[in-house]
Amino acid sequence: MTYSFAELERRLAEVPRLSLIHLPTPVDEWPRLSAKLGIRLLAKREDLTGFALGGNKGRMFEYILADAVRKGADTLVAGAAAQSNYCRQLAAAGARLGLRVVLILRSVRRAVDREVQGNLLLDLLAGAEVRVVDCEPAAQAALLDAEADKIRAAGGVPYVPQREKGLGVVAYVHGGLELLKQLKEMGRSPSAIYVAAAGETQAGLALAVKALGAGVRVVGVDPGATWIDVPARMAQMANLAAERLGLSVTLEPGEIINTSAYYGDGYGLPTPASVDAIRLLARTEGVYIDPVYSSKAMAALLAECARGRIARGAEVVFVHTGGTPALFHYRDQLGLPQTV
Ligand SMILES: Cc1ncc(COP(=O)(O)O)c(C=O)c1O
Repeated sequence: MTYSFAELERRLAEVPRLSLIHLPTPVDEWPRLSAKLGIRLLAKREDLTGFALGGNKGRMFEYILADAVRKGADTLVAGAAAQSNYCRQLAAAGARLGLRVVLILRSVRRAVDREVQGNLLLDLLAGAEVRVVDCEPAAQAALLDAEADKIRAAGGVPYVPQREKGLGVVAYVHGGLELLKQLKEMGRSPSAIYVAAAGETQAGLALAVKALGAGVRVVGVDPGATWIDVPARMAQMANLAAERLGLSVTLEPGEIINTSAYYGDGYGLPTPASVDAIRLLARTEGVYIDPVYSSKAMAALLAECARGRIARGAEVVFVHTGGTPALFHYRDQLGLPQTV
């Protein structure tokens, strides 16, 4: 079964939501890069949400934090990598809602990740209470639970947004619907949508595409989330969202296209191709992409053009998911000098 734009919009409108970001985000033409690649490249600018320096998490927090407020939360507890864009946008959203924010961050590049730069600097500016730990993601998840228990024992009401999988996907069903409507208005029918993703973003886009019966492939590029089974997790969270929206559409792991061929040595570690992609975007379109996520998705898109897996003349959408503050923490890997 497929749904109309209006029907999907009606179902989304029934899910409580706060207003944090400026929507719709634009869809831009990237003519100079398109000419270089021999394709027609469009960019969905999720980096331009106008909130806390942009990024794909703002859309999710509109839904997730509406749930937190409804449940009477006074403290948001989250954890990710030290240069997490998720945590930067959460710190700002917490500030905007007058909620305490506790972040337990994992160092990916050990000591250098304790440097107050990029996203970590912004977390502190927004007043988040930050702790950086050296451990694996599973141990970090246990620390979040322990922190929530501690807050509860002290009479507080903690809320762990990362436990609310379905609502983040709902946000990207909303994002997918917005994108497909924009493409229709522009008279464009791309064959593929490329996006850096290991979770809610691709799950939501894929669910929206299937629910609306749109014939476009959503190609996710894994940033190196080796600690999870990406397609299985995406399908599971997409199905939670489908249930929430009362859709009779489900996703199987086998329907999720997500490549792990481009993250190189691991999460948060740039590759020569991802550094080239950052430079290319900056020098052809004056657009900055980030060293952890969108540069690896762009490296995938460039490689697939070079190999002919994206045909010449094809129309392709690149979802710019944001993350640019992390650039300031990667000067050495970007091959730039400390001073000039
Ligand atoms: C810039 C950027 N792009 C993509 C993603 C991936 O989003 P998701 O977790 O929904 O797959 C993230 C997640 O932190 C991000 O910060």
